[in-house]
Amino acid sequence: MKIFLDTANVTELREGVAMGLVDGCTTNPSLIAKEKRPFRPLVEEICSIVAPGDVSLEVVATDFDGMVKEGKELAQVAPNAVVKCPLTKDGLKAVKHLSSEGIRVNQTLCFSATQALLSAKAGATYISPFLGRLDDIAAVGMDLVRDICEIYRVYGFKTQVLAASIRNPLHVVDAAKAGAHVATMPFSVLEMLMKHPLTDIGLKKFLDDWNKSGAKI
Ligand code: E4P
Repeated sequence: MKIFLDTANVTELREGVAMGLVDGCTTNPSLIAKEKRPFRPLVEEICSIVAPGDVSLEVVATDFDGMVKEGKELAQVAPNAVVKCPLTKDGLKAVKHLSSEGIRVNQTLCFSATQALLSAKAGATYISPFLGRLDDIAAVGMDLVRDICEIYRVYGFKTQVLAASIRNPLHVVDAAKAGAHVATMPFSVLEMLMKHPLTDIGLKKFLDDWNKSGAKI
C-alpha cells in the first residue's frame, strides 16, 4: 500500500520524503488555505518535493466547464500533478472529459459505493472514500473501502482506491487489510505508525546495559 501525506505543508512533506516513506501527496482547498501562501508557487514547490510521486490538486469550480478549465490548468503545474474533482454530477462529467484527454483525476468526497462505481466507469485514476468523515456520523467508513475494493476487483477496474480522511493508525491497518492501493494521512498519523512504547523501553534497557558494561563497538 502506498502512503500519501494529506497536507500542503512543505516542511512536513520534506521530512516525510527524507524518511523515504512518502509516495505522494493529497491537498484540498482547506489544507491549501491553511498555509496562507500564494497558490501557484506553493503547489509547484509541493510537486517538486514529492516528485515523482503524485500530488492531488483540487479544483474549486463546481460546474463542468469550470472544473475542466481549472483541471487543465492544474494538470500543467507539473508532470506529477493529479487533478482532484468532487464526486458530483458535473464532477463525474469532468472526470470523463479530463481522463479522455489523458489527464489523471482523483475523484474526491466519495461517500458511497454507487458513487465509486460511477467514478471508475468515468475513468478516474483514484477514488477517495472519506473514512473519518463517515465515522464522524456513526457510519463505518471502513465498510465503504471494503465494498469499493471488492467491486473494483470483481470488474477489474484500474481506478486505485485511495483511503482518505484517515484519522488514526487503526484506519491505516484496516485500509491495508481491505486492499486499498493508497492511504493518505496527516503527518501526525504517519509519525504514530512508527511508534511503540515497547520499542522505546527495549532500546533504553539495551543501551543502559551496554553503557554499564563499558564495552565499545
Ligand atoms: C483527502 O484527499 C482529503 O484531503 C482528506 O483526507 C480529508 O480529511 P479530513 O476529513 O480529515 O479533513
